[in-house]
Amino acid sequence: MKFISSKAAFAMVMLPALVATILMTQSCGKSGDVDSLYRDPSQPVEARVNNLLSQMTLEEKIGQLNQLSMPYGEGAFENLCDAVSRGEVGSLLNVPTAALSDSLQRVAIDSSRLGIPLLLARDVIHGYKTVFPIPLGQAATFDTALVKLSARIAATEASSDGIRWTFAPMIDIARDPRWGRIAEGCGEDVYLTSVMAKAMVDGFQGDDLTSPSSIAACAKHFAGYGASEAGRDYNSTYITERQLRNVYLPPFEEACKAGCLTYMSSFNDNDGVPSSGNKHLLTDILRGDWGFDGFVVSDWASVNEMVSHGFCSDPKDAAMKGLTAGLDMEMVSGTYIRYLKELVEEGKVSIDDIDRSVANILRVKFKLGLFENPYTGTPQSVKYDKAHLAAARQSAAEGTVMLKNDNATLPLSTDIKRILVTGPMADAPHDQLGTWAFDGEKDSTVTVLDALRDIYGDKVQIIYEPGLGYSRDKNTAGIAKAVNAARNADAVIAVVGEEAILSGEAHSLADINLLGAQGELIEALSRTGKPLVTVFIAGRPLTIAKQVEESDAVLYSFHPGTMGGPAIADLLFGVVSPSGKLPVTFPKSVGQIPVYYSEKNTGRPASGHETLLNDIPAEAGQTSLGCTSYYLDAGFGPLFPFGYGLSYGDFSYSDLAIDKSSYGVDDTIKATVTLSNNGKREATEVAQLYVRDMVGSVTRTVKELKGFKRVTLAPGESTQVTFELPVSELAFYGLDMERKVEPGDFTLWIGGDSDCTLSTDFEVTQ
Ligand code: BGC
Repeated sequence: MKFISSKAAFAMVMLPALVATILMTQSCGKSGDVDSLYRDPSQPVEARVNNLLSQMTLEEKIGQLNQLSMPYGEGAFENLCDAVSRGEVGSLLNVPTAALSDSLQRVAIDSSRLGIPLLLARDVIHGYKTVFPIPLGQAATFDTALVKLSARIAATEASSDGIRWTFAPMIDIARDPRWGRIAEGCGEDVYLTSVMAKAMVDGFQGDDLTSPSSIAACAKHFAGYGASEAGRDYNSTYITERQLRNVYLPPFEEACKAGCLTYMSSFNDNDGVPSSGNKHLLTDILRGDWGFDGFVVSDWASVNEMVSHGFCSDPKDAAMKGLTAGLDMEMVSGTYIRYLKELVEEGKVSIDDIDRSVANILRVKFKLGLFENPYTGTPQSVKYDKAHLAAARQSAAEGTVMLKNDNATLPLSTDIKRILVTGPMADAPHDQLGTWAFDGEKDSTVTVLDALRDIYGDKVQIIYEPGLGYSRDKNTAGIAKAVNAARNADAVIAVVGEEAILSGEAHSLADINLLGAQGELIEALSRTGKPLVTVFIAGRPLTIAKQVEESDAVLYSFHPGTMGGPAIADLLFGVVSPSGKLPVTFPKSVGQIPVYYSEKNTGRPASGHETLLNDIPAEAGQTSLGCTSYYLDAGFGPLFPFGYGLSYGDFSYSDLAIDKSSYGVDDTIKATVTLSNNGKREATEVAQLYVRDMVGSVTRTVKELKGFKRVTLAPGESTQVTFELPVSELAFYGLDMERKVEPGDFTLWIGGDSDCTLSTDFEVTQ
């Protein structure tokens, strides 16, 4: 069983007592002849690693490479304790409580021969008890400081239950919203994902790794998983080496530079090689090129799955290929613990390979201070701390994107008499938490309906008619009631979207239109002629062209977490101005996918004047269609571009200037622009800097984000925004596969989204 179930309740109450019994009946494993240098924190980490390694039996070494999930069932716990005391387990995931974590740790410390602590792990992906927006929503904040704070809070809360390792950040570039896991990452962009990767690693790991509230980060899924063919989860990828290095790997390299302690190999096979057996990735690039000295864990059973891939003949072969490729710790499939000893004895795996992997794991355990402080050191009271909830509210507000606001429909005024709140996501506490929120609790979650009632209920009459029971609900019976209520209201807030279960792992969709009868609900509400504000709460970009058309204003919130309701209420009534920007392009229709801003120009770029389907006369001759790259039915552009998002201000950009027209490769470009808020409200804008390398040894993309800044301006205020861009950041892997800046001509833009047009040119010389 993968995740904790109701049996966890039994575990919480009964198991610590069982551990006490087990410990009483087991003699302490540590024998007197152990050289305890490794226990001395004043010794350098490498000396401790080597000292401990030199005293380990082959079985104990292999044990460190083995990660198990918390087992349930008759006798399972006793068996686990036995295995831990024999040194057969290096790490556990999904241990549900602090008491249990400490109990198991006690078995490892007091009862195994060398007393090596366990590393306890969990998927703490976007918060623990206080759930933040899903990572896609956090990326939409373009606020690295806030993202770092969110990760810090998640670490603090999770560590109060003994968790010292999270399987995050997920930094897979994803350009296909059919893929359910797009929810878990930072979207389509290399730069945005890279800076968010650093922010999350910094937040999880904290300033001092040995602090009880610091948890090891895990950069996943290494690598290329986001390119799963056709957006179907676990599917194969075909990423060329250059595309891998230019697009998919940079966030992982950034995580490494930030000191990320662990990596997780991905499920996919790229060009025929599953990541868990990919030596080029796990050893040549990760260790050779980047100098990584932490450890790599497999994804769930992905070592064994190399058999299903047809890459390994059987589990033993999989153990051999995984370990020799550089995969240090195996998550749950148990091939290492079963076969590595045999493989060593047969000479198929060298003891050096084993030692290297064990050392990588021990190094992380020492760095985390686990030998000194193995037990939970963070108090339970940190959960749902007020400051945590405030940060979650801020994150959900900053991560919500306003896509439309005709006739200044928003913000709503409290002078308004009656508001209808409708839609299946208006009061869906479980679903607004999103995917990977195992520890979030719906009873502690505030919905849009709760917040509107709570904050504005005494000023405005709030009528609630859900219209539909849940997002896939096809029963239209409630729609008439909602429409009737709309007729008596002054404004309608319709909250629609996707339940949490519709995105995330193994939850890909072939069709990303609104599900159930939600489309009918919006259409019927729109026909009432009442001001219609549609709020989407979803795990991915949906194809919403029709609903955007039908609505007066649109907010889009990627599952916003515990405080999603108050955050959205703050935006609706203008307590906060929307400032979120899209971290991913919104397609007009599923057939446009993949569609992303940082694409190649092609030899026949679209001009914007293409002939569309209905303009083609019958029996048209073949040459009449305009020979550019576009769709007859969908044209060229997306519904909304990357970086797009409105605010209650009215921003304009002017006077773009750079300090020179020609730069050397070691120079830094200083670009400035005047940003003005011509609107009547204070608002925050995310100014974005893009570049294009006009000619390369291989073709370059039409735009690449290279910087952004959040700027808050009062009504009528202007300011000069300055970016400093080292020319070295323009480097890429060209024809010779060397990462370098190629001298030549460049264009630089600054603006409010990836469609911005204010630009200037410069050149780079040798
Ligand atoms: C997922 C990982 C996750 C792991 C542990 C896998 O199925 O792909 O992202 O960290 O399970 O729960």
